[in-house]
Formats: sequence, structure tokens, C-alpha cells
Amino acid sequence: MHTAILTYFSLLVSGLATLLGERHLFQPIPRDNSTHVDAVNMLTCLSASGFPGNTVIATDDAQSLTLVSNMTEIDTDTLDPVMARCFNSFAYGLSFSHYKYVNFPDDDNLRPVTSLEDALANPDSLPEFLRLKRI
Ligand SMILES: *[C@@H]1O[C@H](CO)[C@@H](O)[C@H](O)[C@H]1NC(C)=O
Ligand SMILES: *[C@@H]1O[C@H](CO)[C@@H](O)[C@H](O)[C@H]1NC(C)=O
Repeated sequence: MHTAILTYFSLLVSGLATLLGERHLFQPIPRDNSTHVDAVNMLTCLSASGFPGNTVIATDDAQSLTLVSNMTEIDTDTLDPVMARCFNSFAYGLSFSHYKYVNFPDDDNLRPVTSLEDALANPDSLPEFLRLKRI
């Protein structure tokens, strides 16, 4: 029941976005209630909107989808609005974080998985990510 309501709501939101002239640069995969499809759509959005292909995809003990951007290579401030837009359009409450680094985070809890480019070439290689429960 809740799922049906959320789906209607998201259709309404994307319908509004279309009316208001926002167009996506790609065709998202139809949602199937899995975090996998939402993660792939989010990553495709980031890639289509300028995140470099070598952006590191990582995860942690909490199964957060984590992106790790190298501040030496890209002005990460320009990535913030892109990240916010893709997250709002596609993540549907996925647990998500974006690290920006000069030296790669020395954090035992953070495990690099793949790059953005490789993740999109081979989406099945992505681990399962967590969706934060809506309260
Ligand atoms: C959709 O996902 C939620 C949360 O992961 C789950 O509780 C629910 O059972 C799923 N519904 C269907 C129809 O798969
Ligand atoms: C970050 O980018 C710089 C410049 O390209 C590069 O020299 C450095 O190795 C990168 N760091 C990592 C951890 O990839």
C-alpha cells in the first residue's frame, strides 16, 4: 500500500518535472522497488551530468552507496548541485555519502568497490546498498 502511494507520488513528481521543462540526459531504468535499480539510475545521472568516470564507488559496513571524488582532479564544489539533483530525482532514500579528498580517506570502514565508469559498464558488479527507511 505504501509502496503504491510512493510510486504514484514519484510519477507525479517526474510528471511535474517534465512539465516544468527539466529533461534528463538519459533514459532511467524503470523502478522495480530494488535498491539496485535506484543506485544504477543515480550513478547514470551523475555520470551523464559530469561526474568523472574514474570517480571511486565505495561502500561501508552500513552498506551506504559512497562516491569518493579526488579534489586534485576536479572542482568538487561544482559536483554538489549535480549530486543533489541526481539524489533527489533517483535515489529514493538510498543511504548515500559523497567524500571529497586530497588524500584518499584513511578509513578502514570505507571499501572501494569499482569506478563509476566500470560500475555503469557492469552494473551487476555493484553490491547491495541500503535504503534508509522513511519514517
Ligand atoms: C519494496 O521494498 C520494500 C523495502 O525494501 C519492502 O519492504 C517491500 O516488501 C517491497 N515490496 C515489494 C512489492 O517487493
Ligand atoms: C588524485 O588526482 C591526482 C591528479 O590527477 C593524482 O596524481 C592522484 O594520484 C589522485 N589520487 C588518487 C588516490 O587517485
